[in-house]
Amino acid sequence: MTTARLRDVPALSAQADALVIGITGNDSSLVPAPGAQEVLEALGTDFTQTLQDLGASAKLGETCKVPTAGAARAPVVVVVGLGADEEISAESLRRASGAAARALAGKDVVAFALPATSDEQIRAISEGALLGAYAFDRYLTKKHAPIGELVVLTPRAGDRTAKQTVERAGLVAAAVNFARDLVNTAPNDLYPESMATQLAARAKGTKVKVSVTDERGLAEQGYGGILGVGKGSARPPRLVKLAYAPRKAAAHLAFVGKGITFDSGGLNIKPASGMGTMKCDMSGAAAVAAAVFAVAELGLPVRVTAYACLAENMPSGNATRPGDVLTMYGGKTVEVLNTDAEGRLVLADGIATANGDQPDLIVDVATLTGACVVALGNKISGVLSNDEDLLEELPQIAERAGELMWPLPIPAEMNDKLRTTKVADLSQHNPDKWGGALFAAAFLREFVGDGIAWAHLDIAGPAFNEGSPEGYTPKGGTGAAVRTLIQLAAERSGG
Ligand code: BES
Ligand code: MN
Ligand code: ZN
Repeated sequence: MTTARLRDVPALSAQADALVIGITGNDSSLVPAPGAQEVLEALGTDFTQTLQDLGASAKLGETCKVPTAGAARAPVVVVVGLGADEEISAESLRRASGAAARALAGKDVVAFALPATSDEQIRAISEGALLGAYAFDRYLTKKHAPIGELVVLTPRAGDRTAKQTVERAGLVAAAVNFARDLVNTAPNDLYPESMATQLAARAKGTKVKVSVTDERGLAEQGYGGILGVGKGSARPPRLVKLAYAPRKAAAHLAFVGKGITFDSGGLNIKPASGMGTMKCDMSGAAAVAAAVFAVAELGLPVRVTAYACLAENMPSGNATRPGDVLTMYGGKTVEVLNTDAEGRLVLADGIATANGDQPDLIVDVATLTGACVVALGNKISGVLSNDEDLLEELPQIAERAGELMWPLPIPAEMNDKLRTTKVADLSQHNPDKWGGALFAAAFLREFVGDGIAWAHLDIAGPAFNEGSPEGYTPKGGTGAAVRTLIQLAAERSGG
């Protein structure tokens, strides 16, 4: 596994296989970022001009490799773009470090000579580099050699706070990468039972207690949503509870994750074009689980209980039909109108279960609707909530963690739409095609206990990158929402 650490040595004498420096500015004038000047000077008089001649760009995340030919201890310098502004944001550092780490896959030791004096900068470089160094090679016969060590050059290498910052960044990045691994694992290997087993194995030696409810337990306790969705599959569903309860806890957070290990749509089967990436439909469950492990390993004084609602949505002679009525955990009845709107059914059971713990706050995370992707694109998650303050606060928490989230409303008309069915308490699916992300949230809100603050994160867009790698975001599973959940827990613990 790749690790990150701090060192206080001049960039030119850093013992590494590659040295990363930054540039800002634009095509007509490149400006060395703090840390770059001495390296560029060693490479030659007016090396900024040489970079320009080489076509190096300050565009965020663009990289250009140059040999040092003895001018530095490292044989290669990677010049990475930090964007046009001389004012360099934490997120620019995170993305540029990630891009540099990707460009240097296969090197053993990579040193970063980027502006790294504040804790925010040290955190951003460490997280970005560790996230960018991620590679998923489980199914490749020829494995990738991962970067061994990422060295962040900083005058604060001896400072306790700075050391804690890089350690925390390591735990956060490992959590994101754990979620990515789960998402990227092929759905013939990752199904409800095997995912539950993996989560239980991950808990060994940690302060997280994992308990798994199998299909018999689910039936005994009335989990109509999870069972209804899982019925069509040969692989039975599971509910996994992950609990971290430190002695001194400032608050109790409940996380609920959608864990559809494959979403074929069920009898309302998806077209081929929409099914190809549907192993990603357990990203919410992966995120909540990864976050709990990280919160425990960070030792944050906050209690966290997560529920991973795991089922495979398949068509078969035993599958749930449109028109079926399910009795959900807690007793509410739901008329199923579209078996492809399965996420809300498993989440409703999870949320209703979380109510029983009387948490201060419930956050559910789900690749829930294509409608949310239409609204916000594939880089921004939707936030919907029953609490005005939370609706405003969560996108800000996300931003501090380096993630993009945006508030969406739950309009009052959704309450009527939820009740167009004549045969059950609630309709599962909206009568018209508009506002699908909002209707889904209105449905989930029905299962939140009285007086409990709740937020729903629709990560259908950002959870899975079908395009090219970018910054610290690889192709495939991205680990969306993991950093936001950890940041939320940290802020609610007063840390
Ligand atoms: N898992 C999908 C949503 C999704 C779409 C996730 C694209 C990631 C990328 C979800 O279960 C689904 O099928 N939603 C339907 C809901 C509809 C039937 C109301 C959708 O969005 O089309
Ligand atoms: Mn679906
Ligand atoms: Zn789904």
